[in-house]
Amino acid sequence: MAAVRVEKRRAKEVLEILKERNLLDGRRKPIREGDYVFFPVTNGELARSLGLDVINVELPMRPERQIYKNLTDLLPGDIVEGLGRLDVIGDIAVITIPEELMDRVDVIAQAIRKLYPQVKVIARRGFHEGKYRVRRLEVIWGEDRLETIHKENGVLIKVDLASVFFNPRMKGERYRIAQLVRDGEKILLPFAGVLPYALVIARMRKVKITAVELNPRAVELAYENIELNKRWLKGEIEVIQGDVFKVLPELPEFDRVVSPTPKGVDALSLTLSKAKSYLHYYDFVHEDEIEAFKERIIRECRRQGKECSVRVKRIADYKPHVYKVCADVEVKQNR
Ligand SMILES: C[S@@+](CC[C@H](N)C(=O)[O-])C[C@H]1O[C@@H](n2cnc3c(N)ncnc32)[C@H](O)[C@@H]1O
Repeated sequence: MAAVRVEKRRAKEVLEILKERNLLDGRRKPIREGDYVFFPVTNGELARSLGLDVINVELPMRPERQIYKNLTDLLPGDIVEGLGRLDVIGDIAVITIPEELMDRVDVIAQAIRKLYPQVKVIARRGFHEGKYRVRRLEVIWGEDRLETIHKENGVLIKVDLASVFFNPRMKGERYRIAQLVRDGEKILLPFAGVLPYALVIARMRKVKITAVELNPRAVELAYENIELNKRWLKGEIEVIQGDVFKVLPELPEFDRVVSPTPKGVDALSLTLSKAKSYLHYYDFVHEDEIEAFKERIIRECRRQGKECSVRVKRIADYKPHVYKVCADVEVKQNR
């Protein structure tokens, strides 16, 4: 089988050339022997035409599941460094590609397809926009659609990325919240989207959830998602379409409120006023402001005549020095 033999000191440089030309054979492992490294290649003739020393040698096969671990295994360094994060939502891959790499889209798409053969659509990520927090996405490869069904924490979540918000990276956080919930609780979920939090909680606990969402397309998908998952949901979910700031004042208190608050919206006072025992309040906070954020919540508790303990947890990086955080507020006593 064809392999390129190269002196160790030139190994990195040659590896980059092989990746650049898509010549590296990911199914076999490179090996080191003495002062040389042997890289498996898919086309010996082509490698030779680049002036490389091609020989015939048996190299060990990689176990099937280890073929490619990430894009670094498949793309040259200059491309990998320029790319932003890659998420796979159902059968749609979403990736951040800067303008200067747009002429390399074919190579990038090819690498993503090798890494995730189940992917049918690749979309380039833009920014979240508008009050529904929808991301601008552009299909750069595959079927022309942005609808898919994503699996997470034992539930199916139908999304339409062209018109609703969805973040697959909150999977662990949704699991954490669901673990805190006890059977029998009544839970309020403002800013519910297509119901990822509600579904994961209802999958694990026998609870009653009231979800509030403004975006009509998200509400449509929320109903579809309840239907899709109804066989394995222990809890019940009621969906109210409307503005949190108009709907919540009409609702009673709940044992627990989970507020995946959209960026730039202040719903602290309102959501806290509906929490009998617990509030999980998400926000975006600069690292220097975390203590001030916590104190603000404690002040709001006092103002509402509640005695609370507050823990602020960093959930994800948002931008340098700014984090998505969750304040876990326990209402110890209503005075
Ligand atoms: C950050 S997203 C969270 C969605 C969902 N909980 C999730 O985790 O995927 C915020 C959601 O709040 C909705 N929204 C924004 N303003 C709203 C309002 N005033 N009343 C109700 N929903 C609102 C948006 O449409 C969006 O679905």
